[in-house]
Amino acid sequence: MAQASNGPGEPPAADELSRAGLRLEVDGHTARITISRPERRNAMTGRTWTTLAHIGQTLPEDVRIVVIAGEGDIFSAGIDLAMFTPEGVDGERSLVAGVLDGSADADDIEGHIAELQEGFLWLRRPDIVSIAAVRGHAIGAGFQLALSCDIRILAEDAKFTMKEPALGLVPDLTGTKPLVDIVGVHRAVEICLTARRVEAAEARELGLAELVVPVEELDGAVDDVVAALLATNPEAATATKALLQQAAGNTLQEQALAERRAQVDRLTSLAKAMGAGA
Ligand code: CAA
Repeated sequence: MAQASNGPGEPPAADELSRAGLRLEVDGHTARITISRPERRNAMTGRTWTTLAHIGQTLPEDVRIVVIAGEGDIFSAGIDLAMFTPEGVDGERSLVAGVLDGSADADDIEGHIAELQEGFLWLRRPDIVSIAAVRGHAIGAGFQLALSCDIRILAEDAKFTMKEPALGLVPDLTGTKPLVDIVGVHRAVEICLTARRVEAAEARELGLAELVVPVEELDGAVDDVVAALLATNPEAATATKALLQQAAGNTLQEQALAERRAQVDRLTSLAKAMGAGA
């Protein structure tokens, strides 16, 4: 469970989580993060993403699975649109105020976006498997958060929308690469530049969902996948995810070499463990 302290190395305290619109439950090897601002359809703010980064930085070492879901019948309505007003949200830095009053230059804004992206990037870490459990809308930043996860399990009512271009923006929360990796550049152009909804059945066809289940079966389906993932050897899982992640950027020969090296590490560890047990 969330701790009461938020010093260096400590997980976010309850008040930080609450202000970020997040809940965190850690139970053994599984961390469950819930986006919880139901009155704003789980819209997220900068604080949501810096707190997500904080969760990633302070995750207990034995956590192997991270499940992200939305409170209620929606994953997330994306960025809180008040972030684009000069007033911003609850004293948080507005994304436009600095431009309007001249206090922020391009480097400042880029640096700020880099901080926000940290909330998404850590979900690719090889030592964890991240799962998005999606009900209802996942719009804009919500879609990008789901795209940041290794596995997307969708309820039949799930729908993805990359709304940013319709708002005069680009998707900048690390979602464009996984989207193109999964659906290819042509389909990604069509999905983003029309800002249309991709319903669950189509998401399954396009490879944007690993599993689509009836709404009432979503929690059980996630639990089944978590149990199956936890049944494999943790070190082998980490090494395999790292291998798979580099495959697309490697030549066949480079990947074959990477496989050999990873296997030498595995065999060495297994042999040492056998020796220790003898
Ligand atoms: N930001 C702030 N408030 C939001 C919100 C958002 N993204 N989405 C919904 N809300 C608020 C509404 O303003 C409304 O508040 P009030 O009750 O005070 O009027 C409340 O949540 C309920 O909203 P709806 O009545 O619209 O709920 P609905 O169930 O009919 O529709 C929805 C849900 C389809 C998600 C619709 O609310 C919607 O389209 N929201 C906006 C989505 C959007 O454009 N998000 C931004 C995408 S871009 C992005 O994320 C990244 C980026 O730009 C970089």
